[in-house]
Amino acid sequence: MERHLIDLRSDTVTQPTEGMRRAMAAAEVGDDVYGEDPTVKRLEETAAQLLGKEAGLLVSSGTMGNLVALLAHTRPGDEVILDANAHIYFYEAGGLARIAGLIPRLIETADGCITPEQLDQAVRPWDIHFPPASLFCLENTHNRAGGVVLPQEAVDAVVSRAKELGLKAHLDGARLMNAAVYQGLPPARLAQPFDSVMLCLSKGLAAPVGSVLVGSREFIDRARRARKLLGGGMRQAGVLAAAGLIALTEMPARLKEDHARARRLGEGLKSIPGLQVVGEVQTNIVILEVRASQWDSARLVKAWRDEGILANAVSPRRIRLVTHYQISDAHVEAVIDATGRIMGQGF
Ligand SMILES: Cc1ncc(COP(=O)(O)O)c(C=O)c1O
Repeated sequence: MERHLIDLRSDTVTQPTEGMRRAMAAAEVGDDVYGEDPTVKRLEETAAQLLGKEAGLLVSSGTMGNLVALLAHTRPGDEVILDANAHIYFYEAGGLARIAGLIPRLIETADGCITPEQLDQAVRPWDIHFPPASLFCLENTHNRAGGVVLPQEAVDAVVSRAKELGLKAHLDGARLMNAAVYQGLPPARLAQPFDSVMLCLSKGLAAPVGSVLVGSREFIDRARRARKLLGGGMRQAGVLAAAGLIALTEMPARLKEDHARARRLGEGLKSIPGLQVVGEVQTNIVILEVRASQWDSARLVKAWRDEGILANAVSPRRIRLVTHYQISDAHVEAVIDATGRIMGQGF
C-alpha cells in the first residue's frame, strides 16, 4: 500500500511504531507453549494488572480471544446471550456456532447496551425443552453502533442481573482503552463486573499482532487449553508481546487525539449537504450516512479512493471511518475538503 493514502478503513491498518520495532528485535524469548517466554509472561501479567484480573493470555487476534472465551465459559449446546449487532455474532465467521457449538440468543438494542429487563425476557427458566443459557456478552466500545461507549452504570446493572440469573459475563473489549479514555475511568473499573475481558493490542494501540484475554487464574488455565485446541499456541511469541507491552503502556495516553480528530471529521462531514453522522462521535469511529439521492456508499467510497482516501461501506448508505495514530489533523482537513469538492459543495 502506498504511503500517501489516507486510510480510514480501520485502526487495524496502523503500522508498528519505531519503538515497537526496536523492542521486537531485542525481545527476550522462549517457547511459550512450554510457558518459557519471559516477554509473553510480562505482557500477560501487565494486561491482567491493568484490567484488575488474576491472569492473562496472549492470543493471535480479537476473534481468537472471543472464541477462546466462549469455549472456556460454556459447553456445546448452551445458549449465549448477546446484542444483535455484536462483533462476536456479526463478524467472527460464525465461530460461536461452528466451533463452540453455541446457540446465539440475540437482543436488539440501539447502542449495544442490553437492559436488565431485556435480559430477564431473554433468559428462560430451566426446562427440559430449552437450551441452557450460560453466557452473557457485551461489547465496549461498540463497533457497529459507531464506537460508542456503554455507560458504566448501565453495564454494572445488566451484568449484575446476568450474575443473578446464573450467567457468566464476557466483555469484547477490543477497544476497551478507547472507552476508558472517553470516560476518564481506569480500565480495571470497566472490566470489573466481567468474568473475562478481551482487549486488542493491534487496533488503536498499534501493535502489529495480538490481543489479550484476562480473567481468573482458573478461567485462564481453561482458556489456554482452548487456545491450543484452535492452533493458537505460539512459540517465541515474545517478539509480538514486546510490541504489545508498548501498546498497553505507552499508546493509551494518545487515544484522546484520535477521538478529537474523529469528532472534527464528523463535524466537517456533516456540514456537507447530503451527509449526516449517525449518533454521537465519542471515540475513534464515525458512521456516516449518505442521504443525497444521487449518492450512495459505494459511489462515495469509489470517489474517495480516486482521491487517495480509503473507507469501508458498512451498508448501502452507511460508511465507517476510523481515526488512528497515522491520521493527522491535516489528513482530517484534507478529507473534509475533498468530500466537499467531490459532492459539489465548497465551503
Ligand atoms: C469489537 C470487535 N471485537 C473483535 C474484533 C476482532 O478482532 P480481530 O480483527 O483481531 O480478530 C474486532 C475487530 O475489528 C472488533 O471491532
